[in-house]
Amino acid sequence: MWRFIVSLFFFAGASAIVDKLDKNLAFRSPFFDEPQFAHDTAAISRRNTQPARRDTVDAAQFKDEPYPGFFTSDFSNAISIWSSGVNFTHSVASGDPFDTSIILWTRAEPLPTSSGQLPDQSVPVCVSFKIGTTQDLGSPVDSGEAFTTYDIDFTVKVEATGLKPDTKYFFQFVDCTNPTIASPVGMTRTVASINTPAEQVNGGKPLTLAVFSCSQFQAGWFNAYGFAAHNTTADIFVHLGDYIYETPGNGAHIGRAVLGRELATIHDYRQRLGQYRTDPDLQFAHQSAPWITVWVCHIIANNGWKAGTSDSNDSTAGCTFSPSGACFTDRKLAGVRAYHEWMPIRQVDAGDQLRIWRNFQIGKLVDLSMLDTRNYNRDLTDLGYNHARKHPSSSPCVVVVSLADESRRSLMGANQEKWLMDTLDQSKSRGAVWRVLGQQIVFTQLIQEGSIDFDAWDGYRENRNRILDHLYNNKIDNTIVLSGDSHANWVSDLARKYTRSNTRD
Ligand SMILES: *[C@@H]1O[C@H](CO)[C@@H](O)[C@H](O)[C@H]1NC(C)=O
Ligand SMILES: *[C@@H]1O[C@H](CO)[C@@H](O)[C@H](O)[C@H]1NC(C)=O
Ligand SMILES: *[C@@H]1O[C@H](CO)[C@@H](O)[C@H](O)[C@H]1NC(C)=O
Repeated sequence: MWRFIVSLFFFAGASAIVDKLDKNLAFRSPFFDEPQFAHDTAAISRRNTQPARRDTVDAAQFKDEPYPGFFTSDFSNAISIWSSGVNFTHSVASGDPFDTSIILWTRAEPLPTSSGQLPDQSVPVCVSFKIGTTQDLGSPVDSGEAFTTYDIDFTVKVEATGLKPDTKYFFQFVDCTNPTIASPVGMTRTVASINTPAEQVNGGKPLTLAVFSCSQFQAGWFNAYGFAAHNTTADIFVHLGDYIYETPGNGAHIGRAVLGRELATIHDYRQRLGQYRTDPDLQFAHQSAPWITVWVCHIIANNGWKAGTSDSNDSTAGCTFSPSGACFTDRKLAGVRAYHEWMPIRQVDAGDQLRIWRNFQIGKLVDLSMLDTRNYNRDLTDLGYNHARKHPSSSPCVVVVSLADESRRSLMGANQEKWLMDTLDQSKSRGAVWRVLGQQIVFTQLIQEGSIDFDAWDGYRENRNRILDHLYNNKIDNTIVLSGDSHANWVSDLARKYTRSNTRD
């Protein structure tokens, strides 16, 4: 009988714990259901079972001589969730707005007890969230509780659902065990439903996107984020990549020094993302509006492609170690995982580990299609040593310049390319007025001081031509391509060049 009762508690406790762990989407970051990489929330909850049992068993009958232990062996002291307070160290953020749901983000670091103890790994932190249309959050539209643990750097990512389309919302996280410990109140919004007529989207007002790329903490100030958040009425913040830089840089003279080597481990990437988010302008920008983001090369390392970067590669001799000492694959998984933990981004396909390409249908006004032109399935890029002109006498390896017109060459990978064509078709057939592609690298042909960037679409011309052909052949108009990476403002009319032989330069 005793066994029966205990195991009943065990299962009741464990499933409640798993639910609250699963509520936190950061545990899916980014390899949910991939046994070798996933956070196994059932295993994490079993780790938590012992404290949960302590909560449900009367401890009075267990008398013991005190001996030194984590809870000084006093079971009545033992806990199943951390109750000494949390620190919302990086304010709040929101992102990937749909018409009735949105991702809410925070980070809840446990505060030490008065005697300086921090939780051991079996003890999760519990936060609750509320979202509503008034700043005091008096009558929330959605609310709930989620756990976080050290496994995911104490990040919290929940999907708020049941929201009204095209509506402004306020949201906040609170420590489950102490309602006086609360995060700042964030502001966010949903987008119009798919069939809302274009002229009624955003209540009939223009929909404004604030667009960013290439934000390097160690190189200067983030006043552009601050200006967009404080001084414009931008509805959605779009980031086209290079949200962080993995390089050391020279930030010390402006008080923005970063780790003195290239990022390589999961800890490195988490620390760098966290350091960027200490910037008050960036923090306020995340707190003020929903973001829609994609990563680019510098989330992992410079000039990435599917099997390497210019700093590390796994290409020819299996895992070639880089100066950072880390394998490309390890770096990539670490960078990707930390990105999913720290960014308010949806994981669109749990079975496709690297997929972040996704579409936002904002009424009949616009389809915003976010692409991954960097890490998904990209063929060899310009890595420096393989660029013929820079190093004419170097290496017998394939020179990337000679590949630029290769017809089978792909920047996006076949799956993503097909998805983009289908998305453009659907956008036209559903009668959306505009199509905006949010992507990382310069799309137009660009010759700067006689040189071509073979790491941009200019190095993958047939892939570019296939997209332009698709637009021409299917008479899909009003398409705008946003690009990051270039550190400059360019505006071009995009045109298909028909003669392959003279596309070389
Ligand atoms: C909470 O986190 C912030 C940001 O890391 C830090 O400045 C502050 O000292 C922390 N507060 C406590 C009580 O630890
Ligand atoms: C931007 O907003 C801030 C905060 O409200 C204000 O102090 C500042 O003067 C504004 N700057 C401009 C250029 O309008
Ligand atoms: C990557 O591989 C190429 C070809 O083997 C080699 O020349 C290059 O030095 C490698 N790069 C790094 C950073 O290991």
